[in-house]
Amino acid sequence: MPGKAKIAVLLSGRGSNMAALLYAAKADDCPYEIVLVASNDPGAGGLKLAAAEGIATFAQPHKGLARADHDALMDEAVRGAGADYIALAGYMRILSEPFVQSWQGRMLNIHPSLLPQYKGLHTHERALAAGDSHGGCSVHLVTTELDDGPVLAQTPVAVLPGDDADTLAARVLIAEHQLYPRTLAAYVGRFSDPEWIVAKVGELALTLPETSARESHGSPGWRVGGESSGKFFAYVSVRHHGEDAVALLAKTSGPDEMAALIDAEPELYYRPAYYGASGWIALRLDRPQVDWAHVRGWLEKSWRAVAPKRLTKLMDAAEEF
Ligand code: GAR
Repeated sequence: MPGKAKIAVLLSGRGSNMAALLYAAKADDCPYEIVLVASNDPGAGGLKLAAAEGIATFAQPHKGLARADHDALMDEAVRGAGADYIALAGYMRILSEPFVQSWQGRMLNIHPSLLPQYKGLHTHERALAAGDSHGGCSVHLVTTELDDGPVLAQTPVAVLPGDDADTLAARVLIAEHQLYPRTLAAYVGRFSDPEWIVAKVGELALTLPETSARESHGSPGWRVGGESSGKFFAYVSVRHHGEDAVALLAKTSGPDEMAALIDAEPELYYRPAYYGASGWIALRLDRPQVDWAHVRGWLEKSWRAVAPKRLTKLMDAAEEF
């Protein structure tokens, strides 16, 4: 089983969304686990709840600190806890640009409106004042623009006659508690979806010169060279031969290199059945944090190992520039 994605939750208040994430994470098949709950307010109710559930907590008041310095301390705690992702859950601080950029694509937020409507505060008041038929909530990726990142999922919530901001907020909150755990699970889970992984490897493999995709014994593979003389330089093994892994198979220089790699990083590399004998190493891709630049490097190395000289020469010449 690939490990669960590790989530740090940042909050400023009661933490009911954090609780929803936490209780969802108690299911065995939930693809994430919460490793830290952190707050800018040591008195936040969410911290108490998390501590009682045995989750590590961290509090760092922002008072007296420059925004970037406060964010740096939060970042240190989050990374120290080994988090792969951050889930903002009622974290009422604007985050500095470097912090947001370093978590790009790995930080989600829940917002109590149907974005792009009503960014910022007082969302329910504004929906009611506008006479909207629905309020709602959105889970989105966090970008440097406030409440503006790509929306991953939304739930509309009908406005009832006589609703005020509090009654509407209370019903939207129920929707939030359903939406956030499901969306977070789908988001972090997709990276271990073999179909997504194969597509991603294919996208990278096909950027190399004269490559094409071809299946081999039921595994997706990529070749370099012509239709008849082409050679495979990569495969993705999707739990092939009973192995509990989705992995890239790439060509090493031989048994010594393979043994050294496996020895140095046994979590990442293994010797695949059959292919291992002819110098192919397996690099696990069903992990929460795949370094795709590293995978790209392996594809290129493997491509070089089998590509005809005329192509590797071209590549060398291109790299001179
Ligand atoms: C939630 O309604 C969340 O959507 C909102 O704060 C509340 C936190 O409640 N977030 C924002 O307004 C962010 N701009 P909780 O502490 O019980 O999860």
